Amino acid sequence: MKAIAVEPGAGTPQVVERPLPEPQSGEVLIRTLRVGIDGTDHEVIAGAYGETPAGQDRLILGHEAVGVVEDANGTDLAEGTVVAPTVRRPPNGSNPYFEAGEPDMAPEGQYLECGIVGADGFMAEYFTARPKYLVSVPRELAEQGILVEPLSVTEKGIEHAIASRSAFDWRPESALVLGNGSLGLLTLAVFKEVLDYERTYCLGRRDRPDPTLDIIDKLGSTYIDSRETPMADIPTVYEGIDIIYEATGYAKHAFETVEALAPNGVGALLGVPDDWTFEINGGHLHRELVLHNKALVGSVNSNRDHFAAAVKTLGQLPEWFTDDLITDVYELEELEAAFKTDDTTIKTAVEFSRI
Ligand SMILES: NC(=O)c1ccc[n+]([C@@H]2O[C@H](COP(=O)([O-])OP(=O)(O)OC[C@H]3O[C@@H](n4cnc5c(N)ncnc54)[C@H](OP(=O)(O)O)[C@@H]3O)[C@@H](O)[C@H]2O)c1
Repeated sequence: MKAIAVEPGAGTPQVVERPLPEPQSGEVLIRTLRVGIDGTDHEVIAGAYGETPAGQDRLILGHEAVGVVEDANGTDLAEGTVVAPTVRRPPNGSNPYFEAGEPDMAPEGQYLECGIVGADGFMAEYFTARPKYLVSVPRELAEQGILVEPLSVTEKGIEHAIASRSAFDWRPESALVLGNGSLGLLTLAVFKEVLDYERTYCLGRRDRPDPTLDIIDKLGSTYIDSRETPMADIPTVYEGIDIIYEATGYAKHAFETVEALAPNGVGALLGVPDDWTFEINGGHLHRELVLHNKALVGSVNSNRDHFAAAVKTLGQLPEWFTDDLITDVYELEELEAAFKTDDTTIKTAVEFSRI
């Protein structure tokens, strides 16, 4: 079968031949439909993040997948079921995080990530998985199923942020998403269309015309240009924000979030920045957090419950939104184009087969 593999840091993704995987006892065989591409894939390709499976010099890419069960192999999953796979797997047998259904909370070394850290991903014509690492996706959502994984990341980030405010009567009305990339726009749509926030904002640094700004407008959200409005001015120019979701990976935003929050607000940090040393007024930030009961929560990856919630959320997003967000779907032969990024590209995917 054909797969897309990369030698991290040493080249571009290439189509390689691999043997058709044979499902072990308790595993099913899945025919891949589509696999989405995100910033993490680009970091893996550049060699900035992730690692190849032990003893291999190449990694099969892809962690945002949707496929269809081809061989149930004696499991309870019906053949023909559309599924999205979760990303983390235990490294050597199981461990307490996996047993508790919370692999997303496992520290480094206690998980592998398919297509990212030490395990092959899903950019192959077929892959195998145990049913506990799969969630069912309604057939009518199969084409958009690549969004289940990134939506699951958002489900977790928002869940943890809201949980941090659960000790008092918190009634958030405003949400700000930092970043107009695919994760940021997905999250903005969740706040607006699913969680029904009264006022939503999205921070970017682009000029119009731009397809991401068109989506912000179409959602009825307010675009904030970070080149014109520093984060610290947001409470005076707009309002103090109840919940902020950072999806830029711009390290200063972790701290500037505290300034833009309303009293009692919470910021969820999702971005993964490179090292960057800069000055901050630590005393001011410390005081803001304490005197205004503010919280910051970091969040990475997601578990099966978040995937299940993401499937439900995907069904609630308007069709125009997912159509506008998924800008291009490429065949395997158009590999190079699939991994190109520019200002007209939001979310791309590779199509391996059709339902
Ligand atoms: N925690 C997790 O589990 C998890 C999962 C997936 C992704 N991530 C991380 O989440 C972040 C977002 O992911 P993504 O795939 O959406 O990445 P992306 O496509 O690179 O989007 C980042 C967006 O942030 C904007 N941005 C960056 N710096 C900015 C600034 N100073 N002011 C305003 N806008 C700024 C960029 O604008 P331009 O395009 O105009 O430059 C871009 O639109 C990344 O850091 C990624 O690594 C985390």
